[in-house]
Formats: sequence, structure tokens, C-alpha cells
Amino acid sequence: MSKSSRRSFIKKNLLSGLFLTSAAPLLSAENALRSKRDIPSLKPYTSDYNNIDWNNVREQFLFAKDYHYLNTGSLGPSPRIVLDTVYETMERLETSTSHGRHEIDETHEKAAKFLNVTADEIAFTRNATEGLNIAARSLRLKPGDEIIISTHEHVGGASPWMALAKDFGAVVKLVDLDFNGEDNLQIIKDAITPKTKVVAFSHITCTTGMKLPAKDIVQLCRSKGIYSCIDGAQSLGMFPIDLRDINPDFYASSGHKWLFGPKGTGVLFINKNIIEHIDPVFAGAYTDSKFDLNTLTMDYRHSAQREEYGTRNTPITLGIGSAIDFINTIGIENVAKRGRELVTHFRKGIANTPEIEILTPESERYSASMLTIRIKGKDNLKLNPILNKEKKLRMRGIYENNINGIRISFAIFNSFQEVDVLVNSLKEIVKK
Ligand SMILES: Cc1ncc(COP(=O)(O)O)c(C=O)c1O
Repeated sequence: MSKSSRRSFIKKNLLSGLFLTSAAPLLSAENALRSKRDIPSLKPYTSDYNNIDWNNVREQFLFAKDYHYLNTGSLGPSPRIVLDTVYETMERLETSTSHGRHEIDETHEKAAKFLNVTADEIAFTRNATEGLNIAARSLRLKPGDEIIISTHEHVGGASPWMALAKDFGAVVKLVDLDFNGEDNLQIIKDAITPKTKVVAFSHITCTTGMKLPAKDIVQLCRSKGIYSCIDGAQSLGMFPIDLRDINPDFYASSGHKWLFGPKGTGVLFINKNIIEHIDPVFAGAYTDSKFDLNTLTMDYRHSAQREEYGTRNTPITLGIGSAIDFINTIGIENVAKRGRELVTHFRKGIANTPEIEILTPESERYSASMLTIRIKGKDNLKLNPILNKEKKLRMRGIYENNINGIRISFAIFNSFQEVDVLVNSLKEIVKK
């Protein structure tokens, strides 16, 4: 697409966003959902849930209106405002031939505020996997050091630790989680030995959307001098997260799932209490607090941002900031509440269909906006693409841990009507 036709494409879509939106505004920051240029000073957490116009929220996303996208756990679509930020920043920086590095600091602040930590504890990465690798490699584990992970980890959450076993002789110990959620703290506790150096776990599992008791696990680790690393790929943007309260050593997430940020973005938190005791994985410009080539002197910055060595992709990083603004405009509590309401609607819809098992715990303590089902006696991994093709229902097959399930993500652009389409389609399949 040429520059001018892309401009008119953006303009056209911005305008359709302006004119197609229905009357009820998203309170004070309604314009923030339309164009970066219109963002007033945002008032996070001020939206009254009952006044939110969810159709208006849906209209911010570009994918087809009749496509039932229930796969945010794999990839979150970005709203118009995020794309707008990326396009505009890219053009602006190209016009001024600048890398715009200093502009990223504003996004560090936004991400830090979103997670209730400080900006020097936040580094931007390319994805959750990269953040988890940085965490794993910065600990300099030795042969025989034990790492506890679970059988429910995503390949991106498990491989950084498995690679430490291959490369340095560390020992990975697998624990099998309790699908009901309740026993997971105890399961991890039982696996700890005097050699345990790290517990690495998913905040929300990619397999069944189960929530782990993150704060309790972190406290357990700290009481035993063990590092804690949370894989937050499925939790950032799904519900409010107070990392100061949970207080892990590391939390790594994707920007391109529940946060709806640009693709190829990630957020890494490194607790300021450990930064002095670990080493950067890579070193380069911005890693150092002092650098003198002639005397070969180099001191490291005591900031997570030392992991942002070298030239960075400013447009997509500002896009993360824009995604956080977008969520704050709606209010993260409201986002979480909407997810739960959609989940509840779905659970009610299939309540009298015993052929469909729900593999995810129901209580809010152990789950949030994503769940996994299994239609008994069927190959669910084969059914999933059929639902996509025939009913335009996009979900994720769960092959991990031999679960043979279908994972459903309930995001802010999904509606109760879409959930009904899903319920009816599943009931049709069950009858076949
Ligand atoms: C729990 C979990 N960890 C890690 C990842 C990998 O994320 P990324 O592609 O951002 O590295 C995923 C992706 O689905 C995931 O669900």
C-alpha cells in the first residue's frame, strides 16, 4: 500500500470510528479510543461499568464484525489507537531521522504505574519468552541447582529453564498441577529441596486458564531464599495486577495478548531488591552507568532497563503505552469484570450439556477470563479448526499435557451474542 493510500486508509477508519460509534460515550475519555491526537489526560479506573458501551469498544478493533475472535490468549488484536500510535511514531521519527529512544521513558512510567512498581524495574522486550530468558540467564545457575516448573507451562515458559539444564547442568523438576487450583501451593512446596534455586510458574496457565496463587508462591519462595519468576503472558491486561504486593523477583509478559499491544512486544519486571545481585544477560549501550573504553571500566546500571541494550523499536514501544492508555480508559477492573461476565454467561449456557467438560476452576481465586473445555469422546483438536471454518469461531486447541481441549478467551470486544453462537455451535456438535 502506498503512503498516501495508507494515510487515507487510516483516515477512513478513524472517521468510521468516529461516526459509527453509538451514542453512549465511554465517559470522560471517549475520544481516547479514536485517535492519539485526541487523547485528553486519561483518568484511569473512573469508568462506571454500567455506562460502558461495549459496542463502542468493539468498534475500535479492525477485524471483521462477524468473526468471533475468542483467541486473545494466543494473540490480542490491537485497537485503532495503538496502530495509530505506531504508524504516526514511525513516520515522525523517520521524518526527523531520530531513534526516539528518550521517548520510551514515558512508557516505562506507564507500565510501572499499571503494575504498581517503579519505572526502573521495567524493561521492554520482544515477547514474554525473551523476558523469561533474561530472567533465567541472569541468575547464573550452576550444575545441580534445581528449578521447579509445572507440566502446564507454555513452551516459551519452559524452554528458558530447560536450556539452563542443557547448557549449565541445572536440574529442572516438573510438578503436575491440580486442575482445581486448590492444591497448587502445596504441590510446589512439596517439590522444594535444599537445592531449589528458582520456582518459575505461570500466573494464568496457557493450558486451562487456571490462576495460580502467585502471592503465596512468591512468599513461600522468599521464606526459603528461592528466586520466583512469574510467566505473566496470560495475565497482563486480563485483570488488575499489583506487582509490589505480589513482589516476585521477575515477572515477564507479552504486550501482544491481553494488553492488545503491538506484535513483538513484551514487558519484563525485575525487582529492584535483586538487581544488584544479578548480572545483565547482554551488555551494550544503556547497560552501563559508567563506561570507559580506554581504562576498560564498565559499571552496570541498577535498573531493569540495562536489558534494553542498543537501538530499540520506539514506535512499537510507544504502542505498548498506547495500549495501556486504552485499557485504563475502560478501567482494568472493568475489563476483568467483563471477562468474568462472559465466562459466567458461557458456563450457564452449557450447564445442561454434560458432554462438555470444563477443565478450568470456576472460582475467581483460581481463574479469570479464559477457560478450556473438552467435548467428551471427541478429538477436540480436530473439532477446533472445524468450528473456525464453519462457524467463524476462532479458539485455540490445547494439545499440551495431552489435554485434548479447546481454550476460549473472553476479551473486551466479545459480546454475549457471540457467546450464544459458541454455545449453540457446541451443542450442535455434541448432538452429531
Ligand atoms: C503462558 C505463556 N507463556 C509464554 C508464552 C509465549 O509468549 P510470547 O510469544 O510473547 O513469547 C505464551 C504464549 O501463548 C503463554 O501462553
